[in-house]
Amino acid sequence: MSDDGSTNDNKKTLRSQKPLRSQAWFGRQDKMGFYYRSFLKNSGQPQDRFDGRPVIGICNTWSELTPCNIHFRDLAEHVRRGVLDAGGYPLEFPVSSLGEVTMRPTAMLYRNLASMDVEEAIRAHPLDGVVLLMGCDKTTPALLMGAASADLPAIGVSGGPQLRGNYRGQIIGSGTNIISMSEQLRAGEITMAEFHEAEAGMNRSSGSCMTMGTASTMASMVEALGIGLPENAAIPAVDARRNLLARMAGRRIVDMVNEDLKPSDILTREAFENAIRALAAIGGSTNAVVHLLAIAGRVGVELNLADFDRLGRDIHCLVDLMPSGRFLMEDFYYAGGLPAVLRALGERGLLNKDAVTANGRTIWENVATAPNWNAEVITPFETPFKPEAGIAILTGNLAPDGAVIKPSAASPELMQHTGRAVVFESVEEMHHGVNDETLDIDASCIMVLKHCGPKGYPGMAEVGNMPLPAKLLREGVRDMIRISDARMSGTAYGTVVLHVAPEATAGGPLALVQNGDLITLDVPARSLHLHVSEEEMAARRAAWVAPEPHATRGYQRLYIDHVLQADRGADFDFLVGRSGSPVPRDNH
Ligand code: FES
Repeated sequence: MSDDGSTNDNKKTLRSQKPLRSQAWFGRQDKMGFYYRSFLKNSGQPQDRFDGRPVIGICNTWSELTPCNIHFRDLAEHVRRGVLDAGGYPLEFPVSSLGEVTMRPTAMLYRNLASMDVEEAIRAHPLDGVVLLMGCDKTTPALLMGAASADLPAIGVSGGPQLRGNYRGQIIGSGTNIISMSEQLRAGEITMAEFHEAEAGMNRSSGSCMTMGTASTMASMVEALGIGLPENAAIPAVDARRNLLARMAGRRIVDMVNEDLKPSDILTREAFENAIRALAAIGGSTNAVVHLLAIAGRVGVELNLADFDRLGRDIHCLVDLMPSGRFLMEDFYYAGGLPAVLRALGERGLLNKDAVTANGRTIWENVATAPNWNAEVITPFETPFKPEAGIAILTGNLAPDGAVIKPSAASPELMQHTGRAVVFESVEEMHHGVNDETLDIDASCIMVLKHCGPKGYPGMAEVGNMPLPAKLLREGVRDMIRISDARMSGTAYGTVVLHVAPEATAGGPLALVQNGDLITLDVPARSLHLHVSEEEMAARRAAWVAPEPHATRGYQRLYIDHVLQADRGADFDFLVGRSGSPVPRDNH
């Protein structure tokens, strides 16, 4: 981490000619100005806090219910010092936090709600810029979506990954080893005592999951999009350099306000293309597809599923990280982190080099000389960890609007396969079925799960990597094709087709699949085909009855009524776009 602030230090920083937004509150010399200043003085603020210096919001997702963000009070303090260093006035505020492991039915149900909280909090208050503290999976897209719609100068600071997990001298990785060890437990290969012992060694420091799961992927997207500082993705949460990065972000946001450098200046089409290529090169989570689509929608950038396939197709997976590989985020940081990956892309013409980033430099200026200290962790482009990378986008009569699969996490022998469908109408039916010894299934079958999409669950839960049937696990089967309208944890792996659109609950063809139907998955041809005649499909559709919605009132009802399908980022239809942060009307 550079400690020069990574700011645009060779260029003279000019104060924007625009009056500071916060002065509409604090610059008033009347009754209302008295109100606005006086109440804030109850924390001991001197008069000069209100003299026209940039007021910086520190948007904090700290919560004891979000253990991955448990260190964010400390992190906010470092941001605060940075803002003060640069002559700004920091004001920390809380927003909804989304704890991936504890929220039910799924944190994704609340991503859009949190984004509304962020957007409206920014707009309603006397802020000129904002630092976004994000960590656990959904907190990153929620904050980016809200800040993008508000479009005040904003910089992202991720909380950083945990230290490597450790169990009996072995390295273990978040999620990835939970999945493998729970399958070992079901197969009778380890004891419950061993299972419990591993729990304590998995999460041994603050920070987010330390595999290349969704949190680390999204932290990498923050860096690749340029909305965070270089090295944002991988510095461990407990490394002092994470605090330094937070401090430098606090300094930098004051300059960004003076330069009027807004999310809409950074989150351009070119920046999203860089992010998609970086996503491929790091073997990142499929969840990033949904989140990037939603963020792009907020800033009016046209992005679609085909972009992910087209831009990611020629990229190799360069980083040997779990869930696909051996190493963890801590190793990634020591090896050079995302700057080394972006440099490798740039040297092959696979980076939009002129994309502007939060530090005022172009992305290429940031990474052109980035070192790679460990070619085992960050492999050379010529001898990549996995030649097949990116997110493959499938279409066909089973997914007219698309579906996704992560080839680097799949079994090569299953990439072209025709099998008999074994259908589960709900996640409850699936959980019962995989433990049913009489289930008619073998390793060549294709498991199909319905009603787990955005409207169906609701919230598009991470249940797409269905557990394999216990009886097949005992036979040594370790992967099968699984298809659903659900998502999958970024820490998971397997030959898993996700995000089928339209989803079953919205009446997509997935709703019409029956036990015994033949399905062909052909990843090289990007095809997902159901071998059922059009006449038979028409008859099934005529007999199909849409399921009753899970909720009749409240937020869940709003969600079901307004959520877009996965191929459009599962944002709310009425949240797409941005409207900036005009000063709201007075309240007196
Ligand atoms: Fe929070 Fe993985 S559960 S980052």
